[in-house]
Amino acid sequence: MKQFETRAIHAGQPPDPTTGSVITPIYQTSTFKQESVGQSKGYEYSRSGNPSRAALEKCLASLEGGEYGLGFSSGMAAIDAVVHLLEPGDHLLAVNDLYGGTYRLFESVYAQLGIEFSYGSAADPESFVEQIKPNTKMVWLETPTNPLLHLCDIEELSRLAKARNPEVLVAVDNTFATPYLQRPLEMGADIVQHSTTKYLSGHSDVIGGAIVTDIPRVAEQLGFFQNAIGAVPAPFDCFLVLRGIKTLAVRMDRHSANALQIAEHLQEQPGIQQVNYPGLPSHPQYELGIRQMRSAGGMVSFIVEGGAAAAKQLAEATVVFTLAESLGGVESLIEVPAAMTHASTAGSGMEVDPALIRLSVGLEGVEDLIDDLNQALA
Ligand SMILES: Cc1ncc(COP(=O)(O)O)c(C=O)c1O
Repeated sequence: MKQFETRAIHAGQPPDPTTGSVITPIYQTSTFKQESVGQSKGYEYSRSGNPSRAALEKCLASLEGGEYGLGFSSGMAAIDAVVHLLEPGDHLLAVNDLYGGTYRLFESVYAQLGIEFSYGSAADPESFVEQIKPNTKMVWLETPTNPLLHLCDIEELSRLAKARNPEVLVAVDNTFATPYLQRPLEMGADIVQHSTTKYLSGHSDVIGGAIVTDIPRVAEQLGFFQNAIGAVPAPFDCFLVLRGIKTLAVRMDRHSANALQIAEHLQEQPGIQQVNYPGLPSHPQYELGIRQMRSAGGMVSFIVEGGAAAAKQLAEATVVFTLAESLGGVESLIEVPAAMTHASTAGSGMEVDPALIRLSVGLEGVEDLIDDLNQALA
């Protein structure tokens, strides 16, 4: 098998056989001419399949080390398809520090339809899997978690969950790490899900999602939902994600390097209570991060002294860091999760500290980023 960087540029994307176009064309068409009734060249209608999407799906499957890739119109649409694998009466056990939109989908959409959800800390894998019940059909992990940057031991949790019930599917939201830093299928997970909106596309100019799995039955069901529900990505969006993926490896190396320098710097500043970054030796799961991830990624969060008001003031005072939701683009972003990305966890018992700040560390010059945080802190 070719190296990751080579697959990122070439997997699923041979030069176009009809024109020689080096880049996979944007097949901006809703439908395809049939040779005769019911006989196509492999594509009939772009909700069911489109060559731009197929290239992206093959590339993502290759990068995650899986057999089957599926593209979606957003990360949430991908998560929605995964939850559709469950039936009323089934139970999903999730890590308790997860993206607010995922929590909202579970509680405000699927709980109403009879699927049962519960949440627990995965810091101690043994006690987490004790919450698996006879009707538990899925374990949902996010690692590193959003916004606290906790890690889940994918290998240990997958092993323990399957020992309890071999039918449990382990799904991992790999958005923060990307397959360059961490490949959950190689560690025993069954399903990997992405918001391709983030690092995979990498330039904050597209919304997209994806799933990769190795299990034919699961891939077939997910493919059915992808077509039947129809939350598919547009051909142009597939092109944007594919273009981003070509530079994923070099971007992630720099995101991690910049984030580490910033985390180390923040740790030494007065007025900051706690810095969460898996690449810091002070992180309680530093050793697990070294085992499980190539490097610690571009996300950093920290708590400022002075509560919500101080967090708001700091987030509004940066100049190079833009105050915005989302993450994973080349430009640095700053936000206050309790009031922004994680507002939907209010009243859930899983609220985040109102003084928590989350950084998506971009690819600007790191000295400029540090100077910007210094002037905002001052
Ligand atoms: C970890 C994680 N998963 C899923 C999503 C949802 O993805 P999308 O916004 O592409 O629907 C997000 C979005 O912020 C996220 O951060």
